Amino acid sequence: MPDDYKNSSQPIERRISALLAAMTPEEKVGQMVMGAGSPECARQLIHKNFIGGYLHAMGEHLAEIQRCAEATRLGIPILFGIDAIHGHGLWKGATIFPTQLALSCAWSPEMLERVGRITAKEVRVTGPQWVFSPQLDIGRDIRWGRLGETFGEDVFLAGELGAALCRGYQGNDLRHLYSVAACAKHFAGYGDTVGGRDSTDSEVSRKKLLNDYLPVFERVLAEGCRTVMTGYQTVEGIPCTTHHWLLRDVLREQWKFDGFVVTDWDTVGRAVREQFVFQNVGEASAAAIRAGSEMSMVTEGFFEGVLAAWRKGEIDTDTVDAAVANLLRVKFEVGLFDDPKKRYPLPEREEIVYCSAHRKAAFEAVVASCVLLENNGILPLRTLPKKIAVVGPNADDLFAQLGGWSIGAPQGEFADPVQPRERVVTILDGLRSAFGSQSEILYAKGCNAMHGTDKVADFFLPHQPVGYLDEPEGGIGEAVRIAGESDLVVAVLGDTQSQVGEGNDRSDMRLGGDQEALVAALQKTGKPLILVLVVSKPHIIENIRGAASAILCAWNPGSEGGHAVAALLKGEINPSGKLTQSWPRSLGQQPVHYDQKPGWHATRFVSECAEPRYPFGHGLSYTSFAYSDLQTDKETYGADESIRVRVSVKNTGETAGDEIVQCYVRDVVRSELAPLKQLKGWAKISLAAGETQEVCISVPISSLGFYNCDGARVLEAGEFTIMVGPSSENGQLLSKTIAVTTAATHKTTEGNTL
Ligand code: BGC
Repeated sequence: MPDDYKNSSQPIERRISALLAAMTPEEKVGQMVMGAGSPECARQLIHKNFIGGYLHAMGEHLAEIQRCAEATRLGIPILFGIDAIHGHGLWKGATIFPTQLALSCAWSPEMLERVGRITAKEVRVTGPQWVFSPQLDIGRDIRWGRLGETFGEDVFLAGELGAALCRGYQGNDLRHLYSVAACAKHFAGYGDTVGGRDSTDSEVSRKKLLNDYLPVFERVLAEGCRTVMTGYQTVEGIPCTTHHWLLRDVLREQWKFDGFVVTDWDTVGRAVREQFVFQNVGEASAAAIRAGSEMSMVTEGFFEGVLAAWRKGEIDTDTVDAAVANLLRVKFEVGLFDDPKKRYPLPEREEIVYCSAHRKAAFEAVVASCVLLENNGILPLRTLPKKIAVVGPNADDLFAQLGGWSIGAPQGEFADPVQPRERVVTILDGLRSAFGSQSEILYAKGCNAMHGTDKVADFFLPHQPVGYLDEPEGGIGEAVRIAGESDLVVAVLGDTQSQVGEGNDRSDMRLGGDQEALVAALQKTGKPLILVLVVSKPHIIENIRGAASAILCAWNPGSEGGHAVAALLKGEINPSGKLTQSWPRSLGQQPVHYDQKPGWHATRFVSECAEPRYPFGHGLSYTSFAYSDLQTDKETYGADESIRVRVSVKNTGETAGDEIVQCYVRDVVRSELAPLKQLKGWAKISLAAGETQEVCISVPISSLGFYNCDGARVLEAGEFTIMVGPSSENGQLLSKTIAVTTAATHKTTEGNTL
């Protein structure tokens, strides 16, 4: 029956077939188009092409566009997507969580799920049903502008955290009013573009993709993530959007993905204009559809290109129908066809956005994400100083504090491009409210986080208000003056949004502007100095770290940053975050990710060692933990078993604290070079002062396999060393060797064979 698609009691596949049968070619291809812009733009697009998706429309803007789609012949509703990456940051007044890299430092899937759920709820009440998150690129080069959007450098951790965030967004039932579809991006290898340059070529082998960059997507899709976004870059010289092997052989054939694939912003057009891989948009559009991309984000000429190619037989009807079926499937699953409320913003918006429960969750997320990098014992501040000088460019800076993809970031267009002041607790605000009744707080900015002459990506306007980079009053001299008057100096330093994100790759990763000079001048005052880093990603801090008694990395902490940092400095909460991206000593040391591979000359540089300044997994606490008695349940294992790793952890200090117990494994001898260690499990525990806990971590033997250079997943029999400790640093790990007795080869699909 033609109207069967409207009947919610029919199975989804039946409804899809009924709808496909009723659609004209134009209506089908129209579903593959994603629009952006004003309601007027949308009206024209809908009139001309019909459209399947729309991005960055919210509130009344969204409602107007949706009404327009409902009035078309078949009334197929539009799926609205939004970059709600760490909270609903592009909505004015939303609860903004720490950025993804920050959140990963809590090593807490439970927390990520909560963040996802809250974000989904705030997004839904403003209208959209789809978030372009989680970001599953693996962090490699710290110069890359988007490194702070990742979960860091480890593929296993990123997979678990990405899966949890996806669970939060999608909930148990995608049809639920507050559930949104998630989007795993940017498929694939985007974190490893050459030299950290955004969107250039990712020169990686299929073996590297299979081992290091694809498993995180596989994990999150296995969790049920319903959409995938292609990357801007080329892989093997082929744009991701037209990469047949990635999109068809891996995603569809091997992983059986039945959601849909959306391109990144105009990647079909870019394959012509910027990558010079196709002669024209028509050719690129046809290649994208043949390869397995299904919705094109904003490329002009895509609709006409696909239609023409289809008419000429360059794309077959089955391919188009399968693509449209995938798009419609997600729309049905989200409940767009059946629940009018799911199509529009919801009336309860005011009660939900930035409500106290969401703020509380944001506060908890920040305290769990901050990483104490150094501490000579000055922290926590048990006796409160009479006067505290708070200085530095990020002490009272909304943009730096909220981080990328929040209002003020280049991607959003707003008449008034700043979050409401009263909805952001800056570090200065937080210190004033926590310490202000007993200590006098003085404040001077001192300098900017970047020089006014620094050039930011010219395809985005710097959205910060005019005057943003004016020299602060009194400059460094004023900061030094108030420091001289005080008993303690808290310098809040870091980067700012113009140095972060798309197009904002950096060639120098020391703190920008005159921040190093500021620290040198503060050091001369002889006053105890605490550095709070409000940074999007690791920096090179060799020139300043020696001046500080303690360094707390707060990342881009979001709305509640100030309250959380104050609670940590005061010792009301014990820091527990651990790094998920290693911090190099110098830029030339890169890459310093912990899962390096061995080799004769790879152990040092002429001028310095090869070890990072702060390794993956590093993070201090106000208490100390002792590890002992590492055991495994057996000495030898078969391929289908799991190792039960046990270790005793004691809180040897006088303060309760949380510890992240990390388990790494090394394949002792492998027929193809193996990493020196790889994270295979972790446990986050809470211990009272003096308490001991036996921690158990389960490591499936199957997780010790790898993809070899024939593209087959293999597990080689032999010895494996289990290492457990508080960070990835060798000196801190207990170790024990076990044996795997049976080898296993799991041949991948044909398309995977190299
Ligand atoms: C980014 C994506 C984002 C999309 C939509 C692109 O420029 O690379 O991550 O989801 O824009 O805003």
